[in-house]
Amino acid sequence: MPLIEVNHVRKVFEMNVRREGRFGTMLSLVRPEKREVVAVEDISFTIERGESVAYLGPNGAGKSTTIKMLTGVLEPSGGELRVAGRVPHRNRKLSSYQIGVVFGQRSQLLFDLPVQDSFDFLRYMYSISWERYHRNLKEYAELLEVSHLLKRPVRTLSLGQRMRCEILAALLHDPDILFLDEPTIGLDVVAKERIRAFIESINREQGVTLLLTTHDMHDIERLCHRTMIIDKGKLIYDGSLQYIRDHFATERQIRAVFSDPAAASNAAQVFAGMREVAVHTEEQVVRVTYDQHATDTSELLRLLLQKANPRDLTMQDESIDALISRIYREGIDSGARRPAASVGGSGR
Ligand SMILES: Nc1ncnc2c1ncn2[C@@H]1O[C@H](COP(=O)(O)OP(=O)(O)OP(=O)(O)O)[C@@H](O)[C@H]1O
Ligand SMILES: [Mg+2]
Repeated sequence: MPLIEVNHVRKVFEMNVRREGRFGTMLSLVRPEKREVVAVEDISFTIERGESVAYLGPNGAGKSTTIKMLTGVLEPSGGELRVAGRVPHRNRKLSSYQIGVVFGQRSQLLFDLPVQDSFDFLRYMYSISWERYHRNLKEYAELLEVSHLLKRPVRTLSLGQRMRCEILAALLHDPDILFLDEPTIGLDVVAKERIRAFIESINREQGVTLLLTTHDMHDIERLCHRTMIIDKGKLIYDGSLQYIRDHFATERQIRAVFSDPAAASNAAQVFAGMREVAVHTEEQVVRVTYDQHATDTSELLRLLLQKANPRDLTMQDESIDALISRIYREGIDSGARRPAASVGGSGR
């Protein structure tokens, strides 16, 4: 049985709309006007034990809403949802023993008290034995490098220090699943790397199942073997990041430097008239941009080396960041070189 099962799940929020003017305000008090916001439209997927899944999508796509339903904070408006065999919003207390949650934008630590007090409180809440508590606390605090922070009030910690403590807090009770909603938001490169290394180790070594939302592609490249993309409340992709790389039109750029602008301009002529190849010349630099799946890189390089005499050559691929933003902007079908077979599938 999959650890997480989501079957045609919907979430609709009802909001009161304020009418304009004094009369409108009064009318709204007596007869409120309601408007529906469909946050999650009709989503189905399963996640097996031990998987590490990225849940991507542009702002407002429905990612946090999905995580809130999976953790029992919100009740779905339709469909069925099971986490470790339980319906989360109906069995919130029991479900919470198997779930750890980290919301990058929200804290579960007690702000004015020392970090350790929050951990002690969680020990009590989850009835963790003292032995297990001390073992987990010691091990995770060392791995996350927070041992020296335990006596400090939470409000005095930097964002990166607090996030590491938040992750520790989410794992004290040995959950099977860890939901991470933007765990690296606002952190510097070093802090992000530390958190990634830790999350990777608890997935690989302890088998904790991960579902992670992020806007940072490095998180996914490092941590997740499977990627789901949600847009306007609908799941539009379920597969690997590599599949997106391999099967979507992706730009590559060759940058060639010449000894002088005249040589550069001559070299640019080599590519004149070639279809689907864009050439830009600036002083002694020529940039050749093309779809790496449609045009053969070796052919372009051969032409360049045979007919011109570059001093230096470098190549750069479109970043996965740029590619994913393009999918957000233009839709999953826009850049597909052939239909994505894994769309809607399990990605494994
Ligand atoms: N409590 C709420 N009441 C009304 N609308 C809501 C509520 N929570 C979320 N929404 C709406 O539901 C949609 C999905 O929001 P959600 O927070 O799930 O997006 P997200 O994918 O997490 O985005 P982000 O990347 O910005 O965090 C948005 O249109 C949002 O405005
Ligand atoms: Mg969100």
